[in-house]
Amino acid sequence: MLAPSVKELLSTNPTSQEVVIDGWVKTFRSNRFIALNDGSTIHNIQCVVNFENFDEQLLKQVNTGSALKVTGTLVESQGRGQSVEIQVKEIFVHGDADPEVYPIQPKKHSMEFLREQAHLRVRTNTFSAIMRVRSALSFAIHQYFQQNGFYYFHAPIVTGSDAEGAGEMFRVTTLNAKKPPLNDDGEVNYKEDFFGKETNLTVSGQLEAEAYAMALGKVYTFGPTFRAENSNTSRHLAEFWMIEPEVAFNDLDDNMDLAEDFMQNVIKYVLENCADDLAFLEKRLLDEEKTKPQAERSEMALIEKLKFVSSNTFKRVSYTEAFEILRNSKPNKKKKFKYPINEWGADLQSEHERFLVEKHFKCPVILFDYPAKIKAFYMRLNEDGKTVRAMDILFPGIGEIVGGSQREERLDVLKEKMAALNIPEEELWWYLDLRKFGTAEHSGFGLGFERLVLFATGMGNIRDVIPFPRTPQNAEF
Ligand code: 4AD
Ligand code: MG
Repeated sequence: MLAPSVKELLSTNPTSQEVVIDGWVKTFRSNRFIALNDGSTIHNIQCVVNFENFDEQLLKQVNTGSALKVTGTLVESQGRGQSVEIQVKEIFVHGDADPEVYPIQPKKHSMEFLREQAHLRVRTNTFSAIMRVRSALSFAIHQYFQQNGFYYFHAPIVTGSDAEGAGEMFRVTTLNAKKPPLNDDGEVNYKEDFFGKETNLTVSGQLEAEAYAMALGKVYTFGPTFRAENSNTSRHLAEFWMIEPEVAFNDLDDNMDLAEDFMQNVIKYVLENCADDLAFLEKRLLDEEKTKPQAERSEMALIEKLKFVSSNTFKRVSYTEAFEILRNSKPNKKKKFKYPINEWGADLQSEHERFLVEKHFKCPVILFDYPAKIKAFYMRLNEDGKTVRAMDILFPGIGEIVGGSQREERLDVLKEKMAALNIPEEELWWYLDLRKFGTAEHSGFGLGFERLVLFATGMGNIRDVIPFPRTPQNAEF
């Protein structure tokens, strides 16, 4: 017999049919009620045991965390809180979990404690809900692009280029760290390294995606991305997943339209397909926020916020307009910003982004036309000669969630910019080729997947929305 999942059983009409279910014990109350969960849903199935009919030794092994196979009949529930339950006939213990040492007991654990138990934390309601939402979001992303004529493009993980020019790369090498080969200048000779040159883990698949967009038209990447930024924040990971669509013939307005439609679409997907998990996560967030001062609580509950973002247009504002708003803002005048806003050209910090989104506009914001100086070399230069066709999408509670741009498609302008930034043409000869042969306007953006999962689940720390987080000083598991 093909065993149905708990999720399926819970929506089955009970006719006292025999059922078999495998799962893990959440709780065992009064030596009678086993709440069993198999990961298919946030809800447990109640298994009712007539303990008089069972061996005492066997029931002693039924503890929180034990894996069981339960056979019984599916009947209408006598108790409240569930419509069906199983009258247990047989229990087989796959493996027990000694309550003296099993860390995930049915009580409240701190997020910090659970991070140390990342291999077991997914057995909690909170983490299983997050990970089901994460999975649904990945599917929604692929579905959106596949339905809209995009091809899934696999960017290389090992690369010789620093796409973002920020130098925050993890080196990939097989050289002996203790005794690397040196050249005549006494520097490490990477010609002797595995690839015969310096290589690193990718910080973005964009440059390679551009090559593919200039033949397939519309492509997207969805893969792991690595940044050796030493920033220990609740928004940064050293290994994260990024989605990077790239579209030939799109200008910045098309790019903004795509990004907005895409973001709203995937959020709608989880609203429609993860209702139970979202309801659970919403309640979790409300409980958590009760412990915070009023001013720090969110104005909207989780589901309301997701509905709001998926159905209201994002506000589009140029950097220059945003700069004026920030310069004249109360917190700036009262010197409340850690980084005061005085001079045009300053990079925006997350305190500024969050002010714009949460206090000023109170909706997602797309900032565009940033000063060239604070953005990457590949962004298209505007007529004014000092701003570029960049766009960042800022979300409430998150700050920057998407970064993108229209790309510089003019060979001469691109070469000038690279020269000004000391980027050797030999390194990116192939990228320049794209501007020599059949060049055209094109645009794209990058969505940080974990920031989207943070937003969708209402969690506060990015370490809690990826299974095994990699951050400075931490690569356990
Ligand atoms: O703004 P970024 O650096 O843009 C790019 O990499 C472009 N090449 C994208 C493109 O145009 N194809 O990164 C894009 C997004 C950010 O907005 C953020 O959501 C996420 O990636 N991100 C991170 N997420 C988690 N941890 C980090 N260390 C991140 N760095 C960037
Ligand atoms: Mg960015």
